[in-house]
Amino acid sequence: MSRLSITAQNGLFQLDTQNTSYRFRIDEHGVPVHLYYGARLPVDAPLPLPQRRDIGFSGNPGDVNDDRGYSLDTLPQEIPCGGSGDFRDPMLELVHANGALAADLRCQGHEILPRALPLPGLPALYGTGNDPGETLIVTLKDTGSDVYAKLIYGVFARQDILTRSVVIENRGASEVTLERVLSLAVDLDAADLTMTAFCGRYAMERLPETCPVGRIKAEIGSVRGHSSHHYNPAFLLSRPGATETAGECWGFCFAYSGNFIASAQVDQTGRTRVLLGIHPRRFRWRLEPGQSFSAPQVLLSYSGAGAETLSHHFHDVIRAHLCRGPWAERERPLLLNSWEAAYFAFDRPKLLALARQAAALGIEMLVLDDGWFGERDCDERALGDWFANTRKLGGTLGALAADIRALGLRFGLWVEPEMISEDSDLYRAHPDWAAAVPDRPPVRSRGQLVLDMTRADVRDWLFACLYDILNESKADYLKWDFNRSVSDAFSAALPPERMGEFYHRFILGTYDLLERLRAAFPALLIEGCCGGGGRFDAGMLYYTPQIWCSDDTDAVDRVSIQYGTSFFYPASTVGAHVSACPNAQTGRSVPLATRAEVALAGTFGYELDPARLTEVEKDDILRYNKLYHRANGLVRTGVQYRLSPPRAELAAWAFAARDGSCLLVTVVRMRPGTAAPPIPLRGLDAHARYRCAALGETHTGAEWMAAGLCVERELRQYEAALLLLERVGQTGDRE
Ligand code: DGJ
Repeated sequence: MSRLSITAQNGLFQLDTQNTSYRFRIDEHGVPVHLYYGARLPVDAPLPLPQRRDIGFSGNPGDVNDDRGYSLDTLPQEIPCGGSGDFRDPMLELVHANGALAADLRCQGHEILPRALPLPGLPALYGTGNDPGETLIVTLKDTGSDVYAKLIYGVFARQDILTRSVVIENRGASEVTLERVLSLAVDLDAADLTMTAFCGRYAMERLPETCPVGRIKAEIGSVRGHSSHHYNPAFLLSRPGATETAGECWGFCFAYSGNFIASAQVDQTGRTRVLLGIHPRRFRWRLEPGQSFSAPQVLLSYSGAGAETLSHHFHDVIRAHLCRGPWAERERPLLLNSWEAAYFAFDRPKLLALARQAAALGIEMLVLDDGWFGERDCDERALGDWFANTRKLGGTLGALAADIRALGLRFGLWVEPEMISEDSDLYRAHPDWAAAVPDRPPVRSRGQLVLDMTRADVRDWLFACLYDILNESKADYLKWDFNRSVSDAFSAALPPERMGEFYHRFILGTYDLLERLRAAFPALLIEGCCGGGGRFDAGMLYYTPQIWCSDDTDAVDRVSIQYGTSFFYPASTVGAHVSACPNAQTGRSVPLATRAEVALAGTFGYELDPARLTEVEKDDILRYNKLYHRANGLVRTGVQYRLSPPRAELAAWAFAARDGSCLLVTVVRMRPGTAAPPIPLRGLDAHARYRCAALGETHTGAEWMAAGLCVERELRQYEAALLLLERVGQTGDRE
């Protein structure tokens, strides 16, 4: 049976996208054997089958009688299992009721669907009317039990994106314990790759770091209960010599916001096993007879033209098939956030003053950040008390919001639903709602504890609170924060044998609450946040079309943070604001132009007190706000080019219109220096003529791209320039 992108012929499966192919076959023993992932191949193109050699200490499955060359330890596999004789890291490990750790999955059949398949309670790429996606489901059964696995492959051909996930079903009569269920395993035919991961810490997230992948494993992960500031759940694997614009590379991006593990390791046959999924540490899931477990989705892609093309695949699919709701595609309201303007120190007159000044600057929304509820005058208390502090707000939340709206602004609000302070009415009423290990003092972080999101009663209560707040304030926007890692993974409501399910159930609980809220307030714009970018992942983007990128608002640091973020996530999802100088986090002062031009590469807004601005700065802000409205369409929907990395003297990026009509280039001088080389340009139509008014120059796209761009004046350190190249005709046209 054959569809546009999925071919299934005599046990051979090929998934084709515009420029890529992925191939595996079900061998004579029913094992799905990986054959190829790379540049597009004709379906009938011959490929060498993996060699079968009798290698010492690599045994043969019990049902393979006299073929000593056949070993699961050496075959490239689609779903390698622990206890099957494959000693490499597995994708699946399960323990049967008798204590045996064993699984050996053999194919039973397959099904092809002409649409993308949603995953229950989990984020997943969705199909649209003219781009429905396609799905291949391969069903496998354990040789020694009634445990089934459904390998789910999604195809988004236009964006060159595949998805992988797996559902484990216990169709037997006794329980099974899942010790490890990853979402993806792929054995790439390469032994010389490098892994680029996006690493950091609080307030310095997603800096690319590259290491060789050899027999010594390259591995990243998080066991913090959120995807983390420290390692983003997305990584690249590259062939030697691959660059931004050339060479072969693969990208893997986990649509999940909790604990994860990602690894790549060369095996004895010279292939690289790539794994990605929920971290097995602190994970144990009990499957009763009749129950099933769905692993979250991985997005994967291949590029033969370097990392930039790979990024375009991910940007396109995230924008069109992951982010949801009316705001996913729309220009977001230009906002002023109260956090760096006032922190906890505000009252009604202060908020109204902020709103008035914001309105005068052309700002469209005031976001009331932390500090508006309960007795929240500092970060030590009141999380969970989701009712207005009428003393600070000078009345009800609804009244304040109405006054702000009367000034011509929209209204936005901050919440941190998954947390609880011990000094709160909520904790006094429900101490057992906090995640804590009995008889041990809980680990406190930012002075707060984590709410037990695994509990339906906790989520119902949170939903009711959020519903009331949103209903009363008619808020247009909600900032959803999360300010600590999860350490005391214990729920008073889970039985001991299910405590290993805490971390995953926590994330499922958060997704459930977000989904209910989205359904109740479909027009609400939600911005994800986790002390900045500690949960900046494709999982959250399914619920929140933008995420606060980092608590570091220093524009120079942001050049690096936003650069790393751009490898997988489009600019439309990147929360970026202009803040005051000296910067609250780094103490650095940089020109307002630089701060604005860096923030323009994201959702754009402000995080400062307008009362402290000079008249000149106010004029500049008025100009930048107008520019935001002119440029944001391009930033949100255009094609992003990383022209020069932050480690260079001049960092530069650009957004190109999809119809070739213009290119908006931003250049920031990162280091003091003398003349820097011209910035290479991409994204122009070689045959069109483009004028750069700022430089007073007109050239063909080909000429611009060959010569590069020389900024009109010497930029001093941390100065920036924004240059627009506009198409003025085709080659051959008279000017
Ligand atoms: C962390 C966020 O990243 C900040 O922007 C701010 O909302 C604070 N939390 C408030 O506590």
